[in-house]
Amino acid sequence: MPNHLLEIDDLSSAAITKIIELSKVEDPDQVLQNKGAALLFEKPSNRTRNSMEMAIIQLGGHPITIRPDEVGIGERESAEDVARTLSCYHALIGARVFAHSTVEKLAGASTVPVVNMLSDTSHPLQALADLLTIWEEFGTFEGCAVAYVGDANNVARSLAMACGLMGIEFRIAHPDGYGFSKSDEEAIRGIGTLLSTTHSPSEAVAEANVVYTDVWASMGQEKERVKRLADFEGYTVEDKLFELTNEDSIFMHCLPAHPGEEVSRSVLDSSRSRIWGQAENRMHAARGFLLHLFQEGNQK
Ligand code: CP
Ligand code: NVA
Repeated sequence: MPNHLLEIDDLSSAAITKIIELSKVEDPDQVLQNKGAALLFEKPSNRTRNSMEMAIIQLGGHPITIRPDEVGIGERESAEDVARTLSCYHALIGARVFAHSTVEKLAGASTVPVVNMLSDTSHPLQALADLLTIWEEFGTFEGCAVAYVGDANNVARSLAMACGLMGIEFRIAHPDGYGFSKSDEEAIRGIGTLLSTTHSPSEAVAEANVVYTDVWASMGQEKERVKRLADFEGYTVEDKLFELTNEDSIFMHCLPAHPGEEVSRSVLDSSRSRIWGQAENRMHAARGFLLHLFQEGNQK
């Protein structure tokens, strides 16, 4: 059955459209009845853990969350042996990891689907919830432009790819040295994303429909925090910047947020902010994805 989701472009645009539809199903088939789902975490989580656990329960399944000290991927035993073992008990393995190669190793050995619940390079489940949020807001992806202000991190990379898959323009404004790598940029453009990069937040957000940001120091980058706070000065999403967008534009953030750093409290709390609907959509999008995976077989 394996049909892993390691990055958002493991799904076609047709599959994403279907997942968005399935996210809305109110009485879903119990496709995980009497089945287990192992959720492995090398890093902390609030939204991902809770939304995945609840989505699995809503489909009749039983999630088992595994903390870093309990399994020790690559320490107590290899990623491959962890995956082989968990495949014996579970219909699904979710993993939040540091190195993206860890989810690749898990997927290489697992006999059940492996879902990337965030790696240092990618956050595909977040991107699905982001697309669902944009769809709910505008009812279309056509003519939509997302302006991401900040670090070209895991969330930005998956979002840029997701935008490309669905025909959304993606702009990023970042300080020098914090953009996509050349190979990431090629991969993003390679799937058809209309991508533009700039060092000017005001240029990026001009007449955008969505302004998106994320933390300046991601999990695992704590030692760089002080340097990053200095390097990102001038990249805070504030009311003044937001005023340059379209009049029906919205603000999005994957959360957790650091108010006063990447975004002001005022923008987070404004009537244009969709952060709580977006957080709720993590559960609906995860359920839609799992329904697609287990109900629709191996359709991509
Ligand atoms: N957005 C997101 O993935 O949140 P958590 O890190 O709390 O799971
Ligand atoms: N870029 C952030 C996202 C958290 C959901 C991180 O990796 O820490």
